[in-house]
Amino acid sequence: MIKETKDIHSYYSPNDLYNRIIDGLNEIGKELSTITLEDLHPVDEFHIRGTVATKELIELSGFTSDMLILDVGCGVGGSTRRLSHEIGCCVTGVDLSHEYIDAAQRLTRLLDMQERVKFQTASALDLPFEDNSFDGVWSIQMNMNVEDKFSWLKELHRVVKPNGRVILYEVCANKNTPVYFPVPWAQESSISFLVEPDLFREVITSAGFTVDVWQDKTDLAQKAFANMTKPVTDPELPELGVHLLVGNDILTKAYNLHRNLDEERVSLIETVAVKPLAP
Ligand SMILES: C[S@@+](CC[C@H](N)C(=O)[O-])C[C@H]1O[C@@H](n2cnc3c(N)ncnc32)[C@H](O)[C@@H]1O
Repeated sequence: MIKETKDIHSYYSPNDLYNRIIDGLNEIGKELSTITLEDLHPVDEFHIRGTVATKELIELSGFTSDMLILDVGCGVGGSTRRLSHEIGCCVTGVDLSHEYIDAAQRLTRLLDMQERVKFQTASALDLPFEDNSFDGVWSIQMNMNVEDKFSWLKELHRVVKPNGRVILYEVCANKNTPVYFPVPWAQESSISFLVEPDLFREVITSAGFTVDVWQDKTDLAQKAFANMTKPVTDPELPELGVHLLVGNDILTKAYNLHRNLDEERVSLIETVAVKPLAP
């Protein structure tokens, strides 16, 4: 593992994650034998606007039940499971963090979804799949940790079939700098690699895609974080939440994200890129 990837992995490497999620579920009185997708949402949809955004992306995707889809940077698999649940398709999730992948696999078994939803540890820059293996791909808020965006997008282009759709929902830079840290995807600037939307679009097309949909969702992200205030010291955290994934300073990270959005230091882009049919 190269040094940069090591630092990124160590940011996303909580101890004993699955058991801590189970403890959280127990503490809020959930019966494990009847756990639903909704019960896990506070912890397993680690992106701006959570399940609401995932449902919009599913709508946008055009994916169908006969498809095999790849989720790159899947985290603990909330959106991976949601996609399969809503569409009926098979989905494979990959993530750099074996701690997240372990939790993703065990949560999927808990929900009895393991027939259609699989996970494995892998880097987005070196996907362990043959060319043209997937009918579609999605990647939700992981580009921020990827310095070499061209190699990442080339990998997505390689593994998706011709005419396949690649759904991206990604934080980008904006017109003002610097970004306030820590943020939910990085403790400090050395593992955060944001580019402005225009450059992001250029890299997508230079990797060989055509851009079918391009939507700036920054205003919706601003609204979602509008009520974030500067946290008090040692705030009380809920039993179940994304602090289990990236640490107890999550409210400071969310507050900084709110400031970064409001002060136009970061933006949020939703896009569908299509791999053209071979000539
Ligand atoms: C903000 S989380 C989003 C997780 C998930 N997509 C979701 O929406 O819940 C970013 C994820 O990207 C993963 N990641 C970052 N760089 C990666 C890389 N080079 N290859 C694979 N996964 C990566 C992290 O381990 C982390 O799980």
